[in-house]
Amino acid sequence: MALPRATVIDASPTLRDGLPFTGPWLLAPMEGVTDSCFRDLILERHDPRELGGAFTEFVRVLDRPLSPPEIQKHLREPRFPMPVGVQLMGADLEALAGSARSAVTAGARLVDLNFGCPAKGALRGCAGAAVLRDPSELERIVRVCHEAVGADVPVTAKIRAGYDDAELVEDLAAAAENGGAAMLTVHCRTRKESYQPEVDWSRIARAVEAVSIPVCGNGGIQRHADLERMRRETGCALVMVGQAALYDPWVFSGRTVDRREAAGFLLQYAEALMTDRASRRGAVARVKQLLRGWRAGGLIEGEADRASWLRETDGERFLERLATLAR
Ligand SMILES: Cc1cc2nc3c(=O)[nH]c(=O)nc-3n(C[C@H](O)[C@H](O)[C@H](O)COP(=O)(O)O)c2cc1C
Repeated sequence: MALPRATVIDASPTLRDGLPFTGPWLLAPMEGVTDSCFRDLILERHDPRELGGAFTEFVRVLDRPLSPPEIQKHLREPRFPMPVGVQLMGADLEALAGSARSAVTAGARLVDLNFGCPAKGALRGCAGAAVLRDPSELERIVRVCHEAVGADVPVTAKIRAGYDDAELVEDLAAAAENGGAAMLTVHCRTRKESYQPEVDWSRIARAVEAVSIPVCGNGGIQRHADLERMRRETGCALVMVGQAALYDPWVFSGRTVDRREAAGFLLQYAEALMTDRASRRGAVARVKQLLRGWRAGGLIEGEADRASWLRETDGERFLERLATLAR
């Protein structure tokens, strides 16, 4: 695949550190979005030297280890060279360790641990962002999973910069490293900051300074040029993109697409979801989720046009409108 000339490719930090990523930019785990339908559409549109990997949505681990088939439902068969990490979220050490082993049996090339989810359900179960209040607990969770899977499969950790504030970001980063994490992703917003638009990348730089494992910066990437800028400004080795990839799936390459290609992506997404047993109504709802912020291909011509897409309640007409534009 020919690469746009503007793309800067440097996969060396990841390859050097023994991580399976094929390039420096990563698709973030996103619950309700990054199932295999969405991931595969993004992966197939990118050169592995730019988009280096992706993750499942978080897989919640409660009080028993998940079985390999339970993990496989999220991972699916690999279709591209880029690795897909299985992300686990939980607080029960034994259940997490067993689930991490199941992830490896299911074919995961890396296991990621979620220490950032701000949802009440996660916090009540002392999982996700709740762990950010106690670096030693984070270290224990990373260690038990690292020991469970052995040296051949990297365990990575994804944190927010803190719970209420970012005071502990260095301690949290060091805890992940001490527990045996092979990479640390830092989402620079705290739990309290939720998904606020303002971001402070200096928190990523602080984590980079605090550890010797590769840090993946995350939070507030809006466009392709921001990827390299985050690396330059923070010293992070990799960059992870969440919301911007929902609204412009080509953000990793910076390629400009036309309306036909943009509509084609959304139509294929709906078709993939329906093939995967989603109802038409469910598939259209997922496409509308992307259209709320969609900016690729000039598909949305102003806010009135966006509202007209979102207002359409007839699923068949909605998909026909997309199909007409995709021809
Ligand atoms: C819809 C949605 C679902 C998310 N689900 C997860 C998840 O399952 N696991 C996780 O670690 N982070 C999750 N996140 C957080 C993202 O991975 C990412 O850290 C966050 O969106 C910040 O990156 P951004 O500013 O590029 O969006 C989610 C974010 C969104 C918007």
